Amino acid sequence: MDNDFENKELIAKHVFFFEQIENEILPLNTFLFEVDGFKVYLKKGDTFTKENEKSLLDKGQKYLFILKEELRDYNFGVEKKLTKTLSDEKIPVNERTEILRNASVSMVEEIFDSMDILKDKERIDNLTGNMVDFLTSNNGVLFNLLSLSSHDFYTYRHSVDVSIYNVMFAKYIGITNKKQLNIYAKAGLFHDLGKSKVSNKIINKKGPLDDEEWKIMKSHPKYSADILKEIYGVHQNIVDAALYHHEKIDGTGYPFGLSGDKIPFIGRLTSISDIFSALTTHRSYSKARTIYEALNFMTENLKGKVDKHLLKKFIQMFQSESKK
Ligand SMILES: [Fe+2]
Ligand SMILES: [Fe+2]
Repeated sequence: MDNDFENKELIAKHVFFFEQIENEILPLNTFLFEVDGFKVYLKKGDTFTKENEKSLLDKGQKYLFILKEELRDYNFGVEKKLTKTLSDEKIPVNERTEILRNASVSMVEEIFDSMDILKDKERIDNLTGNMVDFLTSNNGVLFNLLSLSSHDFYTYRHSVDVSIYNVMFAKYIGITNKKQLNIYAKAGLFHDLGKSKVSNKIINKKGPLDDEEWKIMKSHPKYSADILKEIYGVHQNIVDAALYHHEKIDGTGYPFGLSGDKIPFIGRLTSISDIFSALTTHRSYSKARTIYEALNFMTENLKGKVDKHLLKKFIQMFQSESKK
């Protein structure tokens, strides 16, 4: 593979990410980006050690690159250890939150590349199960999540954040059953899958979309639901979250223009997680708002648009979390 990797697609992974598979036999090849191009760093079968991490960071090398075709091997390596890592109390909660988010983002990245992974229920259940266990047994995750910086493509990270907000929010309003919470996790993770069918030109466009582009963009809830119905024998609530997360209480949303209680509960709840995630993330057309600014914006500007009882609860959740 020594030279033919140059024609293949490479993905950047922060050096920090390799901590999760540290001291184990590397399941994939890694590359460094240098002035004269990509160089093989550690090969599959080598071991990534603490010393590797230190010397890379000392040299200012923040990223190692992996082959896109080997992303799955990287994810397997991380996911295999996830339960153990997330319950390791020697690792600070903020670091474990970051590990959980990175593992989830990496899986969403893989799913966007090949929806076939959705058929691997065991793998997805392992991830969302770990997420629910972690979020129900640790405090302070919400604020940790918001302090994380990330360099992943927006839609992947956003999907994971909506998933985490959904679980925290569902837990806050009294849903304690882990199977139920798992559904809220998947609802968030998969709500924007349909964006994989919308061109990146539209998704990443700076400035407003024209009519035609907007029409395509507005199809993503239906696309998401179609993918989920077809590939994954999912719970109806997961399909509903995908289909209805852009509906508005006053009937001005899409794709159906449903109003009030006609919008399924999980759609109304996911819509709040979705908007909050968008507002608190830096995007090509707007800078990230703080928690306070985002919640304030939602209160001021979303009257009649989102479920007001749920929004009130969502705000209370942050207030109660800050007191912990
Ligand atoms: Fe969406
Ligand atoms: Fe979204």
